[in-house]
Amino acid sequence: MSSGKLDGKVAIVTGAASGIGRAVAVLFAKEGAAVLLADLNDCNETLSLIQAAGGTAQAVKVDTTSEDACRAMVASAVKAFGRVDTGVFAAGIRLDPIPMLELKMDTFRRMIDINMIGVLHSAQALARQLVQQGEGGTIVNIASTAGKIPIPGSGPYCMAKAGVIMMTKVMALELAETGVRVNALAPGFTSTPMWDFEKGTEEDKWAMSLTPMNRTGTAEEQAQACLFLASSDSSYTTGQTLYSAGGQFVD
Ligand SMILES: NC(=O)c1ccc[n+]([C@@H]2O[C@H](COP(=O)([O-])OP(=O)(O)OC[C@H]3O[C@@H](n4cnc5c(N)ncnc54)[C@H](O)[C@@H]3O)[C@@H](O)[C@H]2O)c1
Repeated sequence: MSSGKLDGKVAIVTGAASGIGRAVAVLFAKEGAAVLLADLNDCNETLSLIQAAGGTAQAVKVDTTSEDACRAMVASAVKAFGRVDTGVFAAGIRLDPIPMLELKMDTFRRMIDINMIGVLHSAQALARQLVQQGEGGTIVNIASTAGKIPIPGSGPYCMAKAGVIMMTKVMALELAETGVRVNALAPGFTSTPMWDFEKGTEEDKWAMSLTPMNRTGTAEEQAQACLFLASSDSSYTTGQTLYSAGGQFVD
């Protein structure tokens, strides 16, 4: 029998109904993990994909902007599968471009609430459980290249993602001695419902002008990068941000 990189492990994936989160959930299940699928939307399609491949998963509806809901999400994983070992926090949104001078605070707060505080709630709830279990574990926060590079018109998104990157670094250092590793994945332009521009549109031309490999990434490629950060393949890596972005912004 072939062995998986996550055999016997339990994973929580937020944003699991779509895009990168779905691809992560499907890959982690294929690699042997029991997966708790968490999303605002229903995860039936992801659940079916996993079950059809013989994997183990359960789905819960979670709004990651609620601290209580994120605590309950971790409790659900423990109840369903007895423990938890890893979490990939991919729930997020993208907004239409808005210049800083026209930005309304409601819009800004919504972005920060979902794309930054939602990740914090998830990572905090999981880290508490991992520390309590006392056997280490891994956390993978989904950031973006936009957390490093300022993009005019995307101020709120850039600020939220920069927050995720810094949150990852601070949590990693605070938890290093416990064996809980915290890393971030920063995808570049990736073909998902969030970034579904046809080849040749203005947005696509702009994105490709920033991407030396001259193509968007796939959700499956991002899932493989998450697998590296979540599994023991990266056992000596913590506090890092992995840019999986087709050569974007190499420095
Ligand atoms: N697609 C890209 O080009 C790209 C690039 C860089 C970073 N990212 C990041 O990757 C992550 C996943 O994005 P994607 O491209 O797969 O998008 P997607 O829209 O396909 O998936 C996002 C999922 O998050 C869920 N979600 C949104 N708000 C939520 C909330 N409050 N609680 C629970 N679930 C919520 C949505 O229902 C959806 O299923 C996001 O954090 C995004 O910012 C995407």
